[in-house]
Amino acid sequence: MKILLIGANGQVGNDLRELLPALGEVVSAAVEGNQDLVIDLKSRDSIVNAVRDVKPDLVVNAAAYTAVDKAEDEPDLARQINAEAVWVLANACKIGGAALVHYSTDYVFDGKANTPYRENASTNPANVYGETKLAGEAAIRDSGVPHLTLRTSWVYSTHGHNFLLTMLRLAQEKDELDIVDDQHGTPTWANTIARATVHALSTFAEGDSPVQALEKTGGTYNVTAEGYTTWFGFATFLLGYATQLRLVQHLPELSPVTSEDFPTKASRPAWSVLDNTRFCEQFGWTPPAWQTAVRHCLDQLVERLA
Ligand SMILES: NC(=O)c1ccc[n+]([C@@H]2O[C@H](COP(=O)([O-])OP(=O)(O)OC[C@H]3O[C@@H](n4cnc5c(N)ncnc54)[C@H](OP(=O)(O)O)[C@@H]3O)[C@@H](O)[C@H]2O)c1
Repeated sequence: MKILLIGANGQVGNDLRELLPALGEVVSAAVEGNQDLVIDLKSRDSIVNAVRDVKPDLVVNAAAYTAVDKAEDEPDLARQINAEAVWVLANACKIGGAALVHYSTDYVFDGKANTPYRENASTNPANVYGETKLAGEAAIRDSGVPHLTLRTSWVYSTHGHNFLLTMLRLAQEKDELDIVDDQHGTPTWANTIARATVHALSTFAEGDSPVQALEKTGGTYNVTAEGYTTWFGFATFLLGYATQLRLVQHLPELSPVTSEDFPTKASRPAWSVLDNTRFCEQFGWTPPAWQTAVRHCLDQLVERLA
């Protein structure tokens, strides 16, 4: 199987780059020139030419415009990358006979529920980022390409821009931290998402191409860690464990605050917990509890710093 990985430098893309070779030959692409190929999702030609030249059996798109607050000021750019480029990519895959794996977000929901969202729950994004990601999901469905769209949430990793690394940095700089405690969701390690992806793809029946397999089992699935918390709960847990590991020297005083106390450009859902049941039942793989994954990620960070 030949796989074209787009967004290979991102949090999820970086872990996919390590894990996807177990399934076949991987051609990695990024917007910068440090991978096998340059693909800029802002350029239609860049997408179409890459799919035509590489001739992949499967495209995995881990690239996206992910700056949730900035998207409020740059809606056109967010839409171009998260929706219009995805439409071009999905059609290029369809024409080229490739299947497509793509990622979406818990922010397609408005957060008014109080039980975990199933895949078929009504969507109603509360911000521009969520709107553009939802439009990307629809573009893939409308193209008719056999696909796997994995919705995930609150992604963190040992590199990139994420809440876990921000907390570790702020803990060194401050004695007191105010953390939002009225938004509920599931912190998900990029490694969990990459492992879930590779697992799902490894369940294809003997002899089935990705197109044939995803014609049968494709669609939209939730994939997050198990359980949920708030940003305050996430910060308390990760900084507690980081202190045990001596990644931070002293624990700052953490205070729970409301979203109103901590205004951001983009509004965020109060509840964006996703229900993983469909993925677990279809692919026979259960993600770890969010606390277990946070511990593993911090352990990995310690190993890398050693
Ligand atoms: N991060 C989260 O909390 C979160 C939550 C829910 C769902 N998701 C979804 O999960 C997927 C992976 O997210 P992630 O956290 O791994 O994202 P990430 O770390 O922000 O990585 C996204 C990658 O996309 C690349 N990119 C941006 N614009 C591009 C363009 N025009 N052409 C090509 N590449 C471009 C970025 O490159 P540069 O760094 O060079 O810009 C970056 O390497 C995305 O679909 C995202 O929407 C993420």
